[in-house]
Amino acid sequence: MEHGFVWGAASAAFQMEGASREDGKGLSIWDVMLHEPGRAKRGDTGDVACDHYHRWREDVRLMAELGIGAYRFSIAWSRVLPEGTGKVNEAGIAFYSNLVDALLENGIQPYVTLYHWDLPEALFLRGGWMNPESPEWFYRYAKLVGERLGGRVKHFITLNEPNNTIEGLTPGGANAPGLGYPLRDRLAALHNHLKAHGRAVQALRETVPDAQIGFAPCCAVPCPADDRPETVRAAKDLFFSSQAGNLTRDFPVVTLYSDPVFLGDYPREYYDFYARDLRPEITKEDLRIISEPTDVCFHNIYSGEIVRTDEQGAAAVVPWTGPRNMLGWPVIPQTLYWGPKCLWERYGKPIMITENGYPATDCMSLDGAVHDPGRIDFIRRYTGELARARRDGADIRGYFYWCIMDNLEWELGFEPRFGLIHVDFDTLVRTPKDSYAFYRELVKKPL
Ligand code: FCB
Repeated sequence: MEHGFVWGAASAAFQMEGASREDGKGLSIWDVMLHEPGRAKRGDTGDVACDHYHRWREDVRLMAELGIGAYRFSIAWSRVLPEGTGKVNEAGIAFYSNLVDALLENGIQPYVTLYHWDLPEALFLRGGWMNPESPEWFYRYAKLVGERLGGRVKHFITLNEPNNTIEGLTPGGANAPGLGYPLRDRLAALHNHLKAHGRAVQALRETVPDAQIGFAPCCAVPCPADDRPETVRAAKDLFFSSQAGNLTRDFPVVTLYSDPVFLGDYPREYYDFYARDLRPEITKEDLRIISEPTDVCFHNIYSGEIVRTDEQGAAAVVPWTGPRNMLGWPVIPQTLYWGPKCLWERYGKPIMITENGYPATDCMSLDGAVHDPGRIDFIRRYTGELARARRDGADIRGYFYWCIMDNLEWELGFEPRFGLIHVDFDTLVRTPKDSYAFYRELVKKPL
């Protein structure tokens, strides 16, 4: 990995590309789910999304003018392997290959996510992540990507936010496939999913020996209300508590996903809590695969909670009365101080923030501009805290703003706008927002 600091922006295939049935692409579980009545707010789908599949040249030009050094995007598995395994769709490979070339011509490093939730429907019909063969499907897909793009792409993120993949299998879950399965099946899916990560690391090592690889879980960060040692300790304990019984909330499921990957085993309490439902057994060989060495601790961080302690040292979460974004998430800039700092202390890997961003109902003003002071303030505050963590010794190598442009926010539809670039979803016209101009200045200097 380069030394120094990488400023980037992020996106994901399903939220950006559109062209959901074009040029031989197979359907994904998200394509299917959002076509079911009542699933998405206002019936929004990914059929067109930002139409990035057709407008990628313009989009790369906007990224180049923004001056970012890296762009994180995901590959739609079913675009390159319509059935998930077997026959390769050359048109799909060509799309990503052209995108990679254009990025590199503009001095932008591609950071490729292999799995950002859009499982091929064909594989879901074979049991998806609940099928013990799924790590091998993912291995073969990763190998294909490594073979075809690995000469030019050197940065890979295997899985995005695995807890949300498992959430989609949980009764009442919002993510695709949006069907509830028994705990036993979900635990199997979780384990297979992490094994798939490990097998993908192996596939990429075989095909791209000079690659930098990691996975990108997410977490909400408990932050201490004051700097007394007992408060700091209480917040850290909560951050790293195993939260047995809680597979899918993002608050905080750090150790459940990151301990097996970085430290080689699940937290002890996990075995105790789920003893009855853990089938089949978790073997030493499985754990060896899951903990196949990685290079980077990628992490998505948006929000958190504040923890205080009383005179006796008892910890409690403080009810949040401060600012919130339009989705109701507390705006707590110091999450980008405590999160990276704690992750660095526990796992000792260089850290890159692979997502952090601010949703709002931005609109175009009469002057033709999109004024988004809330987002500018958010980025300034959050990156300021990230810089503080770096000054205090955490090895922080990068920051990717989510998202390069307004996009389809999954089942919430097009309403929450996270972008630095405004997208009119009727005309698909792109308009850089005020935050784009702000970010263009910010990325000129290292953090
Ligand atoms: C993350 C997802 C990303 C985006 C942001 C807002 O959980 O990884 O695709 O939807 O939230």
